[in-house]
Amino acid sequence: MKTLLFRASQVLSCQPQNGLFKRQNELNDLGLFEDFSIIIEDETITEISNKISTTDFKRFDLVFDCKNKVIIPGIVDPHTHLIFAGSRSDEFEMRVSGLTYEQIAAKGGGIIKTVNATRNASKEELKISGHERLKEALSLGVTTIEIKSGYGLDFNNEVKMLEVINELNEEQPIEIIPTFLGAHTIPNEYSQNREAYVKSITDSLIPYLSQKKLAKYCDVFLERSAFSYDETKDILKTAIKFGMKPKLHADQFNSLGGVSLAVELEVCSIDHLEVTNDADIKKLSKTDIACVILPGVSYFIKIPYSSARKMIDEGCIVALGTDFNPGSCMSQNVFLIMNIASLYNQMNLNETINAFTINSAYALGLSKKVGSIEIGKQADLIILNTNDYKNIVYYFGKNFVQTVIKRGIVVYERNH
Ligand code: NIG
Ligand code: FE
Repeated sequence: MKTLLFRASQVLSCQPQNGLFKRQNELNDLGLFEDFSIIIEDETITEISNKISTTDFKRFDLVFDCKNKVIIPGIVDPHTHLIFAGSRSDEFEMRVSGLTYEQIAAKGGGIIKTVNATRNASKEELKISGHERLKEALSLGVTTIEIKSGYGLDFNNEVKMLEVINELNEEQPIEIIPTFLGAHTIPNEYSQNREAYVKSITDSLIPYLSQKKLAKYCDVFLERSAFSYDETKDILKTAIKFGMKPKLHADQFNSLGGVSLAVELEVCSIDHLEVTNDADIKKLSKTDIACVILPGVSYFIKIPYSSARKMIDEGCIVALGTDFNPGSCMSQNVFLIMNIASLYNQMNLNETINAFTINSAYALGLSKKVGSIEIGKQADLIILNTNDYKNIVYYFGKNFVQTVIKRGIVVYERNH
């Protein structure tokens, strides 16, 4: 199968010099080609050229005229909690009238509310809503997504969530990276015996999930209302021993040593970082750890925005994610997140695009395969219905996605 994307007004390659990620000034460089064509053979990008003309069309099985269009890499969302049951619209109303996210959680709402609903949902119910949300993600140009468990919080329900996540990966076009987040919060039945819950994670869940290959990553929410430094270290060290890769939710409300722990354990990514101090930003800038910032959370629950500007200037590998979940970011709109990141995290437009493609692919360990448009890479790309890429960040919340190509196959086309 040979496909030609003919003469796009702009192609943003997002190609990194070191083949893996971008930091500092390189984040400003989108690798822009004007009036270029892309050739895809089966799953792979084989040519990026300005020498193709209409007389070449007969060599191709499929031709897309990309005049007045922009082509960018498929978006990689490296942090979501996309599988959940129930709604927290009541909590949104409470927050609108002045209660904070943490106050609501302390009253028994928050994550625990979604845990109750998710425990009561069947695998089939979770799969139906999962499919709907993945369809929405695809229509927004997301071609790779990470999804966490963490609303089961007991053996059967965490396994149920991860089975759903793995089955969804087989049943629709977006590649899903499964993450085990059994350490999301302490479930009510263990509130007086937290060691026993941590033990159930380290002694039962991690060995089982590793043996069944149900999760690539293990994540922990390091926070006063969730897991302590020592508990986090214990869980992540066990996960590493069992072959899972470590990642971390840290510095969302309180700084509890998450950055030092991330550096010590060489986590793949450290996510949130809303309250990270300057010394810790410096520490991260000296590592190859991806710093995943989540502007949608700061916006939605009105907490401080991560200092992405400082992080980038210091040399951190900054990536963007949605953190889509019912409590702290009820939006899947990656373009809205880019807009928020530029206005409130002080990232410039180019940085937001690199951060949601090549750097977010790096955060998931996938940047050799996806996240940029380069010869030899997997053909994951999106055609946008605009002739200037700046519009995708400048407009807020508008979706310009016209066509999505995953592994060389057209998997979504917008009906006009
Ligand atoms: O990333 N911080 C912890 N977990 C999620 C929120 C989950 C929820 O509220 O349901 C987050 O913000
Ligand atoms: Fe999260």
